Amino acid sequence: MQHKITVLGLGYVGLPLARLFATKFPTVGFDINQGRVNELNAGHDDTLEVSDKLLKSALVKNNPSKQEKGLYCSYDLKDIEDSNIYIITVPTPVDKNNRPVLTPLIKASETVGKVLKKGDIVIYESTVYPGATEEDCIPVVERVSGLKFNVDFFAGYSPERINPGDKEHTVEKILKVTSGSTPDVGIVVNDIYKSVITAGTHLAPCIKVAEAAKVIENSQRDINIAFVNELAKIFNLMDINTHDVLEAAGTKWNFLPFKPGLVGGHCIGVDPYYLAQKAQEYGYHPEIILAGRRLNDSMGQYVASQVIKTMIKKDIAVNNAKILMLGITFKENCPDVRNTKIVDVIAALEDYGTTVTTYDPWANSEEVKHEYSIESTSEIPTEKFDAIILGVAHRQFLNIDLAFLKKERAVIYDVKGVLNNADRCL
Ligand SMILES: NC(=O)c1ccc[n+]([C@@H]2O[C@H](COP(=O)([O-])OP(=O)(O)OC[C@H]3O[C@@H](n4cnc5c(N)ncnc54)[C@H](O)[C@@H]3O)[C@@H](O)[C@H]2O)c1
Repeated sequence: MQHKITVLGLGYVGLPLARLFATKFPTVGFDINQGRVNELNAGHDDTLEVSDKLLKSALVKNNPSKQEKGLYCSYDLKDIEDSNIYIITVPTPVDKNNRPVLTPLIKASETVGKVLKKGDIVIYESTVYPGATEEDCIPVVERVSGLKFNVDFFAGYSPERINPGDKEHTVEKILKVTSGSTPDVGIVVNDIYKSVITAGTHLAPCIKVAEAAKVIENSQRDINIAFVNELAKIFNLMDINTHDVLEAAGTKWNFLPFKPGLVGGHCIGVDPYYLAQKAQEYGYHPEIILAGRRLNDSMGQYVASQVIKTMIKKDIAVNNAKILMLGITFKENCPDVRNTKIVDVIAALEDYGTTVTTYDPWANSEEVKHEYSIESTSEIPTEKFDAIILGVAHRQFLNIDLAFLKKERAVIYDVKGVLNNADRCL
């Protein structure tokens, strides 16, 4: 059977996936953000995950028939009526109290419910806790469609593992976990992904296993980073360079190569809360998972306090000091500013009475202003600063000459441990 695929949610995850499916299947990319749909149909992806060349090569002018292939982007429900595979890749954030927000998933499930037909399969890719697909989303699809789960329609879950900004591990090169709501549907879901993912697939025994596998991947990273962040705090007290320690320890074959840092973004710093919330519903209060979260969430404050301490030791007046922050995105070489923890550093520094200038050649200044009320610039500043913080290891910063940006007496603080002339590293 020739499938027709709709991918709902054309963000960092959905667009690369839809573009990839379009090389084999007729594919519709659906998004509620009309601006995003128009930008994509014009052949440009603001997230920079899919190059204009690749995007244009996938795009077709009209909604493809079942016999064609290619990508058509739309915000019109009519365009997704004749698909039989619906893949949901919408955001799964947390609220200000770090509780999971399933609203986008529920809304996307309602959208699918409106167009679902007998025999169709709904596959979720968004990161969730075990049980979210079958207990929270599918009942919505059933209610809106009037169809019965695992009789009239089926489901799958296939978590996404892409890494924004990483041009090496692109979607087709990352082995993909798949699952289905029945063993037979698992095979269908697996075959669909296997046909485009060159790295292969792993068919999990059920949806909950696949959901759990994804959420623990990011929770494991979070806890490991929390451990090295704790080491950094300890070694800073002892005046030992943490990066030197990690380099030495890393010569052992089974020492894990994690580095201290700010854990931002919408995955590693968010997903553990999904697991923690579900664990609590079962009466278990996670200790390690939430301790890791607490520690990592405190790192912005810690970096600011370290910078200020180093300034004081160098006899640099803190009040009204001018500080330059290099980078505001949540990670290097990508424009993604969601849940960036650099803002915690800036807020803490301003609380000390300093003025912070933010320079980031990757970030969209308007988005930064809108999200965080912070002015950022993509132009290298021309003034001189009392302290310079390398917050994000964008490639533009790796060999940057800081001499013309620093006052005669100034502090250079390196959060990422990539500069060789820093006064201090995290
Ligand atoms: N970005 C990553 O690195 C990454 C990696 C693995 C997994 N994930 C997970 O994948 C999911 C999506 O993340 P993302 O980074 O692609 O998000 P994103 O914010 O980049 O994109 C989400 C898109 O969904 C659209 N959308 C929201 N509600 C919608 C709806 N009801 N119908 C249709 N479109 C809707 C938005 O307009 C947006 O374009 C999340 O669960 C995330 O945790 C993300």
